[in-house]
Amino acid sequence: MGHINVIGVASGKGGVGKTSISVNLAVSLVRRGHKVMIFDADLGLANAQIAMGCPTEYNLSHVLAGQKSLSEIAVTSQEGVRLIPGASGMQHMASLSIEESAAIVRAFSSMREEIDYLIVDVAAGLSRSVVTFMQAVQRRFIVVKDEPSSIADAYGTIKVLARECALDEIYLIPNMVESQAAGENLYRRLRDVCYKFLGKSVGYLHSVTFDENMINASRAYKSMLEYAPRGNSARDFMGLAQSLETLPPLTRVSGDIQFFVDRMVANRLGS
Ligand SMILES: Nc1ncnc2c1ncn2[C@@H]1O[C@H](COP(=O)(O)OP(=O)(O)OP(=O)(O)O)[C@@H](O)[C@H]1O
Ligand SMILES: [Mg+2]
Repeated sequence: MGHINVIGVASGKGGVGKTSISVNLAVSLVRRGHKVMIFDADLGLANAQIAMGCPTEYNLSHVLAGQKSLSEIAVTSQEGVRLIPGASGMQHMASLSIEESAAIVRAFSSMREEIDYLIVDVAAGLSRSVVTFMQAVQRRFIVVKDEPSSIADAYGTIKVLARECALDEIYLIPNMVESQAAGENLYRRLRDVCYKFLGKSVGYLHSVTFDENMINASRAYKSMLEYAPRGNSARDFMGLAQSLETLPPLTRVSGDIQFFVDRMVANRLGS
């Protein structure tokens, strides 16, 4: 097998579509023949585990307590996505310490599973654990909606990641836009601001248009690809997966701590 692609999905502002994009991108990649895992690092309530209709017995708290390994808590959704459930419901999990976040990243590094894409769905905001996870991934997706508070938060997130953490491989994913053209326009506006004030350019892959079926799909615990395969957002998620595939593989990440590093090295030595 080839390289592992590790992608973090953040937004700053909550409720702009991180989990929807993580889950639907994951299903799109599965349909395109890839092995995909989501790490639900969003410890809030409406998390990926619920979105995918995956009841799970064990979660991350059992890994942190040393009772289970990541592979033991992973479940496979009906649509074929592997999922590492976050530890929702545990109060203290809402803000992991830096040691706990690092322990999680290390646990991933020693996990032996065949995966092409690992998608890390992080929480809203810019807590320490969010920053740690976004540092540990190879590519960063910042989901943004065309409204002032979301744009301001997306910019704030990029500022911290790009300027303070010196990270690159940051891509904007406009969500709930009217059209691909409107998404590209939103991207260009934000890109110009980032360039002007941060001296940093951000990348673009694809936008996701507003789809009124999204709410019904999530009520039915289905992805858009299953629920409304001919709908506009299903087409957009497949387009996003397709453009993601065209990016060159990255063999190293720019942060200090890295997901899957041991395994990537082992792969290269073994192949
Ligand atoms: N492209 C879209 N079109 C229509 N509705 C959407 C779209 N994307 C997301 N939504 C809806 O917006 C709401 C928030 O989405 P989601 O839960 O994915 O956001 P989030 O960023 O993960 O939120 P949180 O910060 O709480 O984790 C959901 O009801 C979802 O169905
Ligand atoms: Mg979410």
